[in-house]
This record gives sequence, C-alpha cells and structure tokens, in this order.
Amino acid sequence: MNLTLKIWRQKNPNEKGKIVSYPVKDIDGDMSFLEMMDVLNVELIEKGENPVAFDHDCREGICGMCSMYINGEAHGPDRGVTTCQLHMRKFKDGDTIYIEPWRAKAFPIIKDLMVDRSAFDRVMNAGGFVSVNTSGNTIDANATPIPKEDADKAFEAATCIGCGACVASCKNASAMLFVSAKVSQLALLPQGKVEAKERVIKMVNTMDEEGFGNCTNTGACEVECPKGISLENIARMNREYLKAMILK
Ligand code: SF4
Ligand code: FES
Repeated sequence: MNLTLKIWRQKNPNEKGKIVSYPVKDIDGDMSFLEMMDVLNVELIEKGENPVAFDHDCREGICGMCSMYINGEAHGPDRGVTTCQLHMRKFKDGDTIYIEPWRAKAFPIIKDLMVDRSAFDRVMNAGGFVSVNTSGNTIDANATPIPKEDADKAFEAATCIGCGACVASCKNASAMLFVSAKVSQLALLPQGKVEAKERVIKMVNTMDEEGFGNCTNTGACEVECPKGISLENIARMNREYLKAMILK
C-alpha cells in the first residue's frame, strides 16, 4: 500500500517543531509500524536527509520504548498492543497517518518523536522497590504463601511496561495509572507491606513534583494502555495513600 505520513519533526528541545509530510510506497500489511518507519528512514538516509528519531528497543511489546501518538491515539488504532506490535494491515492504501510524540509537560521532547521519560524513573527511585536482606539468610520468596487472587492481581499490575501511553492519553497528563500499578504490584504482596506506607507517600509526592496532572476519572488511560492495566489500581493506590497519611 502507498501512504502519506505526517510526522512531527523537531530538531531539539528548544526549537519549534512542525508536521512534515512524507510519502511511503509498497508497504506490506504484515510489516509492523516500526518496520514501516524503518523503510522511511532508509529512504531519508539514502537521500542524505535526517532520519526520524524515535525510541524503540525490544520490538515485541516488552520494553515500553516505542512511544508514538498515531492518528490521535497512543500506540495507534489497535487495542492491547504497543506501536511495535501494531501491524500495517490496520491501515489501508491511500491513508494519511499522523505521527506525533507523547505530549505532556513531564515528558519533554528530545527530538522528533523521542521524549524524555526519566520522570518515571524518578518516581520508581522514590519507592518502587522492596528492601531485601541479602546477607545470606534471605527468606525464599516461594516460602511465603500468598492467596491466589492477590498473586494474580499483583502480577497483572506488574505487567505495566512504563510506556507512558496512559499519560499521553490523559487530558490532564496524569500518571496515576502507571504509579498505581507500581504501588499495587508491591502493596498486594507480603514482601511489599513492610515499606508500604513510606512507598506510596514518596511515589505520589514525586509524581506531583514531576509535573504530572491529577486524575479526574475519565478512564482514557485504561482504554489506551497496551497492557490492560485496570483503573482498580488507582482506587487501590488512593486507599493506600489515605491509610498512610492517617497512620503517619
Ligand atoms: S499503565 Fe499501561 S499505559 Fe501506563 S505506563 Fe503502564 S503499560 Fe504503559
Ligand atoms: S519496542 Fe519495546 S515495547 Fe515496543
């Protein structure tokens, strides 16, 4: 199929960006969206032009790097997939596709479609971990029985890949779905309960300091999340936060 790509080009964080139009030809429906972008970039390099900068790594839905806003939707028109898992068969011959970076104050643009998501790392550094005694008498995690329902919910929360689509889809650029998944995956397990109080307070405070907006329950994050992270996690994080503030 032949397509017209309208891509956000921006040289650096300080220069003004703009949409630039590029035609691409002979795109196979079985290609992934990133492979289609590779075809364009090879053409641009052969012409001596600057290729489009975009983040990618695993190309199999695991690393969360391939952040692209495609035709007004984070990760494009499909559900439950990342951009690297999106197939070109979702589009048709002659289509015009708009491709933009995540747009949020806390995710400043580095170049073209690449944004700086280190704010997520700082939220994780604030408390997204458990402190484990590694002196040689560590208790094997499997020796602690955990109810199946809790284990399943913790696992589901742990499938968050930190892609940032929730922030990009939210009109408030809220990071509540991401942070609540990271709080929940530990809050549900006995190993995570020891530091639960400090964790939720520190992670929520860091989220606010980083400039993410607040949650107004529109639910766009849940719809666009490629891993199906549930809003239930936000409710859990709010309960954890309230509990921690009362017991402080
Ligand atoms: S909650 Fe979903 S959309 Fe948000 S960072 Fe995690 S995987 Fe991505
Ligand atoms: S490149 Fe890793 S999730 Fe898309």
